[in-house]
Amino acid sequence: MSSGKDGRPFARVMEKHEADREIHAAGGLHYDVLEAIERHLDPDARLTAETGCGRSTIFFSNLSEHHVYFCLDDRSKGAGSSVKYYEESDLFRAEKTTWVPGPTQRTLKDYQHTGQYDCVLIDGPHGYPFPDMEYYFFYPHIKPEGLLIIDDVHIASIGRMADILQEDVMWKLEEVAKTTAIFRRTDATTFWNEGDGWWQQGYNQRRAYKSKPFYVDDGMPFQSFYDRYFSHRKKTTKKRKRPFRSLRKIFRR
Ligand SMILES: C[S@@+](CC[C@H](N)C(=O)[O-])C[C@H]1O[C@@H](n2cnc3c(N)ncnc32)[C@H](O)[C@@H]1O
Repeated sequence: MSSGKDGRPFARVMEKHEADREIHAAGGLHYDVLEAIERHLDPDARLTAETGCGRSTIFFSNLSEHHVYFCLDDRSKGAGSSVKYYEESDLFRAEKTTWVPGPTQRTLKDYQHTGQYDCVLIDGPHGYPFPDMEYYFFYPHIKPEGLLIIDDVHIASIGRMADILQEDVMWKLEEVAKTTAIFRRTDATTFWNEGDGWWQQGYNQRRAYKSKPFYVDDGMPFQSFYDRYFSHRKKTTKKRKRPFRSLRKIFRR
């Protein structure tokens, strides 16, 4: 692992070194976030991966024996390109990395992973359901004690994924640094990725009153899908009670 001569975190060495550089157009991880990742990452990390690329790619190329990144080739963007951003950095260690170019929607499903990951960062396409899709292809390949990092949990659909994960026995939430959630893989059995099992998942075993309304930004209550189903069940139950009541009337006569 690389770090400053005075034992400073690599994230801070990088911050100083790259101080004059403007970040690429898609926006990069804040140095505070990189420092938080560094605190949780195994100092002997052998294999890491990320979706998207940029500042984090420079970071992982220094902190991991080998780093694989799945990212669009956006060099035609010129100065705003995230590929150019790491390529043009003196700190980037290309020899420690493998680039899988192209949309993750295509590249991940056929990729043959070379080992179990010490850390996976999800920070490529942010629209729903792409981060969820990336999680699906990565989660069986993250080793116990390994990290799963989800960036931009302030985006509602990504936050929902993080909500699901924080109730999943496979993950322990270590820290939320700015808008980045850092989870650690527990030693729980890997959820079977070719079957079902929704009833085993913590998120689906709610502890709160299930029919509670939730509110959207315009202040209006929003009907949950559970509620739609539940009110349908109530109607069915009522229908069943009616003949029973009339039977009681018959007996009273
Ligand atoms: C927010 S940036 C990543 C920032 C990076 N983690 C950093 O610290 O600089 C998102 C990245 O995802 C890439 N991207 C967007 N859509 C993608 C897709 N469908 N497949 C792969 N990469 C994608 C963008 O080109 C960009 O590099």
